[in-house]
Amino acid sequence: MAYHIDTLAVHGGQVPDPVTRARGLPVWRTTAYNFDSAEHGANLFALKDLGFIYTRLGDPTSDILEKRLALLEGGAAAVVTASGTAAIHYTALTLAKAGDEFVSASNLYGGTHTMFSVLLKDQGITVRFADVTRPETFRSAINEKTRFLYVETMGNPSLEVADVAALAAVAHEHRIPLVVDATFTPPVNYRPMADGADIVIHSLSKWIGGHGAAIGGAVIDSGRFDWKNSNVPAFTEPDPNYHGLRWSLDLPAELSPIAFALRFRTVPLRNLGACLSPDNSWIFLQGLETLPARMDRHNANGLAVARWLKKHPKVAWVRYPGLEDDPGHGLASRAFAGRFGGMVVFGLKGADGDSQLASCRRFIDSLRLFSHLANVGDAKSLAIHPGTTTHSQLSPEAQREAGVPPELVRLSVGIEHPEDILGDLEQALYRA
Ligand SMILES: Cc1ncc(COP(=O)(O)O)c(C=O)c1O
Repeated sequence: MAYHIDTLAVHGGQVPDPVTRARGLPVWRTTAYNFDSAEHGANLFALKDLGFIYTRLGDPTSDILEKRLALLEGGAAAVVTASGTAAIHYTALTLAKAGDEFVSASNLYGGTHTMFSVLLKDQGITVRFADVTRPETFRSAINEKTRFLYVETMGNPSLEVADVAALAAVAHEHRIPLVVDATFTPPVNYRPMADGADIVIHSLSKWIGGHGAAIGGAVIDSGRFDWKNSNVPAFTEPDPNYHGLRWSLDLPAELSPIAFALRFRTVPLRNLGACLSPDNSWIFLQGLETLPARMDRHNANGLAVARWLKKHPKVAWVRYPGLEDDPGHGLASRAFAGRFGGMVVFGLKGADGDSQLASCRRFIDSLRLFSHLANVGDAKSLAIHPGTTTHSQLSPEAQREAGVPPELVRLSVGIEHPEDILGDLEQALYRA
């Protein structure tokens, strides 16, 4: 019987431990695993047998988390990493090498923007930025060196919504995968693979963990992309990282659909090493159990805050995909089925740039219930001014392209009582 997503969030990927019959989630704290025999060890390394070798490559607690995430996203396999940032970096390295290119939306989390435009560039991998609201700009940036397309389902912090189905069609026309960072739309709100995404990334540090308690990341492989006929040579040519294996041609038939997840685990994760600790996997599994219930509250509170801010005389503009007049509302209504999330961004009124910035600072300094910090997706309400923090490494032009005007304030609306949330915003706006 196929369970609903709420049930999978509680049970997916786990059976009570057969040895001890423990019902809770065990944490397997060990560095390495005994082989049954010399042949068993050799077979594990040759991918003829699948099993645990060394915790950098995987462990039983993380394995439950990976299985549950794959079930929730409708994918075939997942790999967890030490952070969302590592998941993004290793995805790029799984698909591209020096001399290759990829096309990304420009409205990205600031750290991802810097990784793409500076670090990957220094490693010889070139990003071309496109406008997420115009899928044709992705098409025109693709050339014979392009290995993948990249978008955030809902940009951080612009909250511009990506048309995943249209972008998947552009990617597949060119036989390259669409990679989607779905951190702002956890699986109970949206499942991008249903719209054609091939690879989904999450920063687990946000809603999936849900309590601001640990950093982690994940990549989920749909198992549906045809790597054999792709324009991604890392999967068709002999790989010197893995004794000349051709990932789309030489794997046993049952493994070839998840060639991406296998190369991700055995090439960048194995050799660069940003693995998730079993203890943090345990924290994320605890978080997943309550994700559907928490998201109901985040979604309701996010909508209530956006509607309230929209009417406030001190507020110049509000972006929230659940508002009927938001530019992303049509797309978001179709894709997210009325579940628009807990992120709200808005601009304060002010005579000019300087006074707007001063109002932002006074507003943020006056908040009492909201925590002022650089995170999103906590049960607690959070606020920040991205222009001078998370996106401060970007040039003024890159900030504009990323959808970060100087007056923008970002709220991650928590699960407290809505009247207490609105009360805190009211008193801080009064002081701003
Ligand atoms: C959309 C998005 N993707 C990725 C990341 C990076 O994740 P992590 O902090 O887990 O490395 C963030 C962090 O804020 C984010 O907002």
